[in-house]
Amino acid sequence: MKMRTKTAAILAATALSANAAAAGDVEVLHWWTSGGEAAALNVLKQDLESQGIGWLDMPVAGGGGGNAMTVLRARVTAGNAPTAVQMLGFDILDWAKEGALANLNEIAAMEGWDDVVPEALQAFAKHDGKWISAPVNVHSTNWVWANKALLDANEIAVPATWDDFTAAVEKLAAAGVTPIAQGGEAWQEATVFDAVAMSAGGPDFYKAAFIDLDEEALGSDTMKEAFDRMAFIRGHVDENFSGRSWNLATAMVINGEAAFQMMGDWAKGEFLNAGQTPGEDFLCFRFPGTAAQVTFNADQFAMFDQGGMVSPEQGALASAILSPAFQSAFNVVKGSVPARTDVSDADFDDCGKQGMKDLAAAASSGNLFGSMAHGHAAPASVKNAVYDVVTAHFNGEYDSATAVQELVDAVSVAK
Ligand code: BGC
Repeated sequence: MKMRTKTAAILAATALSANAAAAGDVEVLHWWTSGGEAAALNVLKQDLESQGIGWLDMPVAGGGGGNAMTVLRARVTAGNAPTAVQMLGFDILDWAKEGALANLNEIAAMEGWDDVVPEALQAFAKHDGKWISAPVNVHSTNWVWANKALLDANEIAVPATWDDFTAAVEKLAAAGVTPIAQGGEAWQEATVFDAVAMSAGGPDFYKAAFIDLDEEALGSDTMKEAFDRMAFIRGHVDENFSGRSWNLATAMVINGEAAFQMMGDWAKGEFLNAGQTPGEDFLCFRFPGTAAQVTFNADQFAMFDQGGMVSPEQGALASAILSPAFQSAFNVVKGSVPARTDVSDADFDDCGKQGMKDLAAAASSGNLFGSMAHGHAAPASVKNAVYDVVTAHFNGEYDSATAVQELVDAVSVAK
């Protein structure tokens, strides 16, 4: 869809569903609309319904949440903010700075959130000493999902390095298999870019370029190498990728139509929802060359201030989200890992167990970094500037050297 038509469609949908939540209800704006996401959302809905709280659903389709954030802005401008909103990283802080979010300190103190929520998440959940959102999970973007039968049939072992990966991709292509399932949306290309940049330059480079926004790193030969790697990937996706949503790309791996998808661990929710088992039907592994790093994003629910106090329903939602039992039940289905450090991994599958271990190891070794693609490295203006350059390059508008220059320019204007 053209951008203007898309925005108009989103705004029309907003106007239709702009009903304020009745007392006893929460109206929840979110972008969890794929099969796996909806299954996870149900865990939360049912939890609240069991407490007698009604759920007014406000789904806004669009992975990564860009469309949802457009709708949110329109709702707030119209003076009709939803009760609770799924949000990522810097977007939460931006809304907090506008004074739009309710203060959750009372519940946080009662339930001891300070002691159990990892610091990397608190950095986005607190503003000015106040808790302003309830963390649901921790996702990470540097994962690869693979169809096990296709790898076995082509005698391909899990690639550990970029060179192993290119060799595997070329072998699959020579055998007539589509090596990479890719969706064609800017946020998806940027998700791959998170991992590719980390793999090309390592953690210091990633931090310098995407978190410190250092011009030298942004304009470096390493960045050109990252774009060259993106071009390699572009050369090994099928020709119908343009406009494809991420979960349809996951379905290609599930159905054996492609071997690999580079995507955050929400992809695991799709495999599980299709009845597949890790290690048997599909494999999960860190993007080659990033085994020690985690590029994370955390979904949180921010409560829009409905005039002073947190409403009882908002409080119940926040409290339900942070409960250890919910953190396990929800994240087992969603593909993410808990947003608390004290939840057992017993109910998680092998990918989930690995995700929890990787997260703890990366946090303690200084290898945990916010995802650029999912709003945890830099504010939305910079993120969107990066999206524009990455997608233009991926779609062949310019070569890697030009992309590097465009990136330097776009980030310097946006920051
Ligand atoms: C969110 C995930 C979601 C994914 C795709 C990410 O930004 O953090 O919860 O599943 O987008 O929609």
